[in-house]
Amino acid sequence: MDAWRMFALLALMAFWTQPALRTSRISTESVQTSAPASAAAPAQNSAQTPSSTPTQNPTQAHLPGPVQPIPFSHKQHAGMLKLPCEFCHVPSRSGETLSIPRATFCMQCHQTMATNDPGVQKLANYAQSNNPIPWVRVYELPSFVSFSHKTHLAQGIPCQQCHGPVADRVQLFKETDISMAGCVNCHREKKANIECNTCHILDQ
Ligand code: HEC
Ligand code: HEC
Ligand code: HEC
Ligand code: HEC
Ligand code: HEC
Repeated sequence: MDAWRMFALLALMAFWTQPALRTSRISTESVQTSAPASAAAPAQNSAQTPSSTPTQNPTQAHLPGPVQPIPFSHKQHAGMLKLPCEFCHVPSRSGETLSIPRATFCMQCHQTMATNDPGVQKLANYAQSNNPIPWVRVYELPSFVSFSHKTHLAQGIPCQQCHGPVADRVQLFKETDISMAGCVNCHREKKANIECNTCHILDQ
């Protein structure tokens, strides 16, 4: 693990062991040092979904978007836990694509956190067998289109502009326009290139 990630993780763990700062979402068994959950519960907690009872982990079938092999919630991890997007989505060497973390990465926390949750138990099985988690892709371009995260992030375009309010989502779905028209509209607006061969490799 990179040093900065280790630092981020430790900082986060420190945060989560501060009972006064946590919400009641974290069940008492997931953090040994925690005070009774009600002590730190803000009033608006009743509006939060899903339930914090591990056995009540809802199926995601009623939500928009593909049902994932493990019901992974960005709202929980990027929203409530405030993990930065880049903590989990590390750029590839070229910067073109962003990675999706492996089960063993998730197990840094889930070795001890929410271990009774059925989704977390599934996660532990993937980690143990070393099989990749077969996540269903949400945003995926056809192979004849070139797209690089690196060049777009260098323009200061936030993740949310292309992927919507991810940190509010219990399940991701394709909610923004990444069709050709969606790309070209922004290119026009920002005076970026709109020639066909900007995005398509011609005569090959
Ligand atoms: C300019 C629009 C744009 C921005 C900004 C953007 N993305 Fe994407 N993202 C896309 C597109 C388009 C795809 C599909 C790429 C493909 O299939 O080749 C994608 C795919 C992904 C994927 C799947 C893996 C991959 O690289 O194909 C992840 C994860 C992702 N984005 C996360 C993020 C995060 C995190 C940020 C902010 C740090 C971000 N994206 C910013 C447009 C964007
Ligand atoms: C920095 C620590 C951390 C990391 C890394 C982490 N999680 Fe979690 N996760 C948590 C906490 C804290 C909870 C909430 C536990 C609770 O409510 O008792 C949680 C909850 C869950 C749950 C239970 C359902 C829910 O949303 O309450 C699942 C499933 C889950 N995580 C999967 C994952 C997967 C998959 C990854 C890797 C992509 C991951 N987690 C990475 C800390 C982490
Ligand atoms: C704890 C790790 C974690 C954090 C933090 C995280 N993600 Fe993810 N992300 C995942 C996992 C696991 C998946 C695959 C499951 C899914 O699609 O929900 C994923 C999938 C995605 C995808 C869909 C990729 C595709 O095309 O299939 C996008 C877009 C994305 N994340 C954006 C973000 C953004 C933006 C943030 C910050 C607001 C963020 N993520 C924070 C773990 C994380
Ligand atoms: C929110 C605005 C925005 C969206 C949406 C957007 N782009 Fe861009 N794109 C830019 C800007 C600005 C540049 C100019 C970057 C530069 O000049 O270095 C650019 C440059 C590019 C380039 C040339 C540089 C490179 O990476 O090789 C390609 C190819 C490209 N975009 C593809 C796409 C595709 C495909 C999509 C849709 C899936 C898309 N873009 C969506 C703003 C956007
Ligand atoms: C800014 C990026 C961008 C530019 C510039 C661009 N395209 Fe596309 N094009 C795309 C994307 C993204 C798709 C895939 C759309 C999808 O997945 O539905 C696509 C798809 C296509 C397709 C497949 C059919 C379809 O509509 O899905 C054709 C044909 C095509 N483009 C031709 C062109 C031509 C001709 C030009 C120049 C006039 C051009 N493109 C310029 C991004 C671009």
